[in-house]
Amino acid sequence: MRPYVFINAAMSADGKISAYTRKQVSISGDHDLRRVDQLKCGADAVMVGIGTVLSDDPSLTVKREEFRKKRLNSGKDENPVRIVADSLAKTPVDADILRKGNGRRIILVSESAPSGRVDGLRAAGAEIITAGENQVDLTAALEQLYDMGVRRLMVEGGGTLNWGLITQRLVDEIYVYIGNLILGGCSSPTLADGTGFPDCENACLLELVSLEPMDAGFVVQWRIK
Ligand SMILES: NC(=O)c1ccc[n+]([C@@H]2O[C@H](COP(=O)([O-])OP(=O)(O)OC[C@H]3O[C@@H](n4cnc5c(N)ncnc54)[C@H](OP(=O)(O)O)[C@@H]3O)[C@@H](O)[C@H]2O)c1
Repeated sequence: MRPYVFINAAMSADGKISAYTRKQVSISGDHDLRRVDQLKCGADAVMVGIGTVLSDDPSLTVKREEFRKKRLNSGKDENPVRIVADSLAKTPVDADILRKGNGRRIILVSESAPSGRVDGLRAAGAEIITAGENQVDLTAALEQLYDMGVRRLMVEGGGTLNWGLITQRLVDEIYVYIGNLILGGCSSPTLADGTGFPDCENACLLELVSLEPMDAGFVVQWRIK
């Protein structure tokens, strides 16, 4: 068994989730940021890849007090469990995800992760799940997360982790905010990077659930077929 998995991302009109600099860019607006916070509030856990930790240093905390209170009132921690897919345990011990906010943090590593770095992350308060030989085995890791009580998992990118989950058919739903800008760049990260599918027959097919104008763009919700 695995958790229900949904990806949330913001991308430009040309499908980029960041610029070629790979630094965080502001794609959406206040209404969308509130929508994302609400989604996070309703999740048991939120996950990113190590690429996102190294480029954006996100804390992945619930930002609005109203949503933190809502979680506390329903007997949950203030923040969902925060998770990094990080095969070689490269998460800096002073990363915001480890320093900011209350609640559990889990680093998913592979058997190849150097033990010194793994020990350092444990000392910084993280729990460690080991799955896979050289790279995190996402299917096995998600099963372990389910056994730990994670039923609803929000994935906040980036493009490489999204691809890994999509290609292994581990995603149920995708929310994308599409902003009113073009970022361009053939090396800029997109919603799903990795090797890509060879053709439409093998592509991941989606079913449209909803489409809503928001800020200066719109939010589209897809269900994976
Ligand atoms: N606009 C948005 O919504 C949004 C959201 C998040 C990020 N971003 C942007 O996305 C960019 C980062 O994306 P990214 O693709 O470089 O990094 P990423 O997807 O955050 O992390 C990718 C890394 O995850 C690790 N990983 C572990 N197990 C994996 C598996 N089974 N499959 C795939 N990956 C696995 C791999 O590193 P190891 O092999 O070392 O483990 C991989 O290189 C940044 O520019 C950031 O600003 C945008």
